[in-house]
Amino acid sequence: MTDTSDFERLIRARISTRAFLDTAVSEADIRDLLDTARWAASGGNLQPWKVYVVAGEPRQRVINAVRAKIEANPFEDENEFGAYPPKLWEPYRSRRFELGEEMYQTLGIPREAKAERLGWMLKNFEFFDAPVGLFFTLDERMNANQWAHLGMFMMALMLAAEDKGLATCAQEAWMTRCKTVGETLGIGENERVYCGMALGYADKDAAVNTLRSSRVPVEDFAAFDGF
Ligand SMILES: Cc1cc2nc3c(=O)[nH]c(=O)nc-3n(C[C@H](O)[C@H](O)[C@H](O)COP(=O)(O)O)c2cc1C
Repeated sequence: MTDTSDFERLIRARISTRAFLDTAVSEADIRDLLDTARWAASGGNLQPWKVYVVAGEPRQRVINAVRAKIEANPFEDENEFGAYPPKLWEPYRSRRFELGEEMYQTLGIPREAKAERLGWMLKNFEFFDAPVGLFFTLDERMNANQWAHLGMFMMALMLAAEDKGLATCAQEAWMTRCKTVGETLGIGENERVYCGMALGYADKDAAVNTLRSSRVPVEDFAAFDGF
């Protein structure tokens, strides 16, 4: 093995950014990122992903539409299956809990401040102020395999962005309003809106962007045999 590579530095530098500057990102720059990300691998080379990129008025339109729905019914979930399995078990439950606690600690929002925590969570639906939002969709006939392929594409895109000094946050929060997003942006009825993503330049002074989430060591998830 060689010393730390540019790739290793890149993958370790990428984080989920949750506060952005209002500096615009050009369509040409985003096209370049997508042009790089399209080289992601996919089973059967299906390349099943579709991407809807919004800035300016359409971005605001989708924010407004989702806000109106949340105001009418804050707990509605338009997605037929949850972002996580019900009654998440260990060790996943604790990992999720720890991330939440670390994030709210970084933000200085205590556990009792439920309204403030909710308010922060709702910033998802403003792309954390990022000037660009992306939505990733799949044809609804696709199965779990193609969902994984879409994930690979999204990771490639996030790394391409990091490489160009741009920041991202994948946002499955939008899943809960997938139908509203689809209707507002005129996304085809046979497409399923899986995930959103905020994209822009990171606000490096924002406390939330100092959060560095942990990872379990290789021993915890990999088994080796025959070496
Ligand atoms: C597919 C996907 C969906 C995510 N959805 C959200 C989300 O809705 N809101 C959010 O704040 N973070 C979201 N995240 C960010 C994760 O919490 C984050 O990736 C994880 O805690 C690891 O931290 P890091 O990305 O900073 O390394 C999502 C990440 C992925 C990969």
